[in-house]
Amino acid sequence: MEYHHFVIARALHILGIVLWIGGVAFVTTVLIPAIRHNQSPDNQLSLFELLEGKFSFQAKLSTLLTGISGFYMLHFMDAWGAIAWWVYLMIFVWAIFTLVLFVFEPLFLHKWFHARAQKNGEKAFLILQVMHVVLLSISLLAVIAGVAGAHGLFS
Ligand code: HEM
Repeated sequence: MEYHHFVIARALHILGIVLWIGGVAFVTTVLIPAIRHNQSPDNQLSLFELLEGKFSFQAKLSTLLTGISGFYMLHFMDAWGAIAWWVYLMIFVWAIFTLVLFVFEPLFLHKWFHARAQKNGEKAFLILQVMHVVLLSISLLAVIAGVAGAHGLFS
C-alpha cells in the first residue's frame, strides 16, 4: 500500500514537471522570441505581462506539486542521508524557481523589469530571454539527469 503512495507521488511529480517546465519552454522558445521580433515596443510589455502573468499561477501550483511529491519520495525512500547529485540538481532548480515565483517576483522583480522595459525595451527583453534560456537549460538538465539517475545510470 505504502509503495502505491510512492508510485502515485512519482506520477504527480512528472505531472507537475510537464505543466511547469513545459510552460517555461513555451515562454522561452516561442513567446519571448515572438514578442521580441514581431511586436511594436508599446505592445511588447503589456502582451508579455498579460501572458506570463496568466502562466504564473500554473507555475506556482505545479512547482508546489513537484516539490511536495519530490520530498515525499525522499521521505519514502528514507534517502535524506544519501541524496544523489542528480536529486540535488532537482532541488536546486526547484529552489531557484520557488524563490523567483514566490519571493523575488512579488518583492521587486516585476517592478524592476517593468521599469527597465519602459526605459529600453530591446535591452530588457534581451536580458529576459537570456535569463529564461539559462533557467530552461538547467531545468532540462535536471529532467535528463533525473530520468537517467532514477533508472540506474549513475549507480
Ligand atoms: C524539491 C524538489 C525535488 C525533489 C525533492 C525531488 C526528488 C525526487 C526523487 C526522490 C525522485 C525519485 C528518484 C528515484 O526513484 O530514485 C525524483 C524523480 C524525478 N524527478 Fe525530482 N525532485 C525535485 C524536483 C524536480 C525537478 C525541478 C525536476 C525537473 C526539472 C525533477 C525531475 C525528476 C525526474 C525527471 C524524475 C525521474 C522520474 C522517473 O523516471 O521515474 N524533479 N525526484
